[in-house]
Amino acid sequence: MKMKKLFAGLLACAMMASLAACNGNTESTSGDLPEIGVCIYKYDDNFMTYTRQAMETAAEGKAVLNMNDSANDQAKQNDQVDTLINKGVKALVINLVDPEAAPTIAEKAKAANIPLVFINKEYPDGTDKIDYDNCVYVGTRSEESGIIQGELIASAWEANKADWDKNGDGKIQYVMLKGEEGHPDAEARTTYSISTLNDKGIETIELGLQSATWDSALANNLMETWLGKFGDEIEMVIANNDGMAMGAIEALKVAGYFGDDGKYMPVFGVDALPEALDLINAGEMAGTVLNDPLGQGGAAVDLAVNYANGKEVLADTDWTLDDTKAVRVPYVGITLDNMDVAKTAYGLN
Ligand code: GAL
Ligand code: CA
Repeated sequence: MKMKKLFAGLLACAMMASLAACNGNTESTSGDLPEIGVCIYKYDDNFMTYTRQAMETAAEGKAVLNMNDSANDQAKQNDQVDTLINKGVKALVINLVDPEAAPTIAEKAKAANIPLVFINKEYPDGTDKIDYDNCVYVGTRSEESGIIQGELIASAWEANKADWDKNGDGKIQYVMLKGEEGHPDAEARTTYSISTLNDKGIETIELGLQSATWDSALANNLMETWLGKFGDEIEMVIANNDGMAMGAIEALKVAGYFGDDGKYMPVFGVDALPEALDLINAGEMAGTVLNDPLGQGGAAVDLAVNYANGKEVLADTDWTLDDTKAVRVPYVGITLDNMDVAKTAYGLN
């Protein structure tokens, strides 16, 4: 009897035009919108969370996003890509775990003839070196964030040298919180923030440099260690992103900074997260560099939707591709004076 019922049910299902209606797949209710497969390197990342939300908003009415958390595991991401391809998505948007895995992912997409947009983590050799025509990158120009951060630090240092140069030697004794090793943004920010200062004639002395993989909690630990080791010798904290800057600020507070007795430490980040803007407002962060989530998330969706609809990838957009097949959304230096620019880019205005 049970079997009979099951069989009848299956038959009813088979008779319905869409098999999807039988397995409870809600995406089938989205009309004719193309499905786009998305993998984010890990959901537990401040900036990528804002970018992910920006993508969801940008996709409304244009595409259904099948979103996946790659949980910082490239093997897992490879499996997710296989699954999305088997499901027949019309385009892929991939935020790699390991930037070096770009050719592997591209090979899968190419074999299935599914167009591919990489975001946020750029293949270090350049997207033009990947053997797949229907493949582009949407992100930024990594050096730019380091150069802008260096310029921001230089003008703040010149204006506040009397207070900030604690040992009066004219040089900046700094600690550097680096992002993920091998990540193009982390490498470029670490190098260019300092070389920009040095090119302007500002001398620097590195007391500590270590990766905290973009992570607040790890940065908090590192800062605690550095404070224990160098104490007041530290004149500045330079972080590759705001998440790590925020972790450092927490450690500084515990060590008595930003309190009533006026003990201060200039801390610089990148991303212009809303949480960082609050810290700038409170005088606990000196500056940051806008990494535009609405711009990058919007561009990624626009290009993927064009691909999914069989159009030319840049059709009906204002974006351009450079000679490495990359769309580069500009960075902007942010201080107390122009926070509105960052608020708009995070959809807060
Ligand atoms: C960077 C961003 C970091 C982190 C990283 C992830 O562009 O500044 O905060 O999100 O991407 O790949
Ligand atoms: Ca000094």
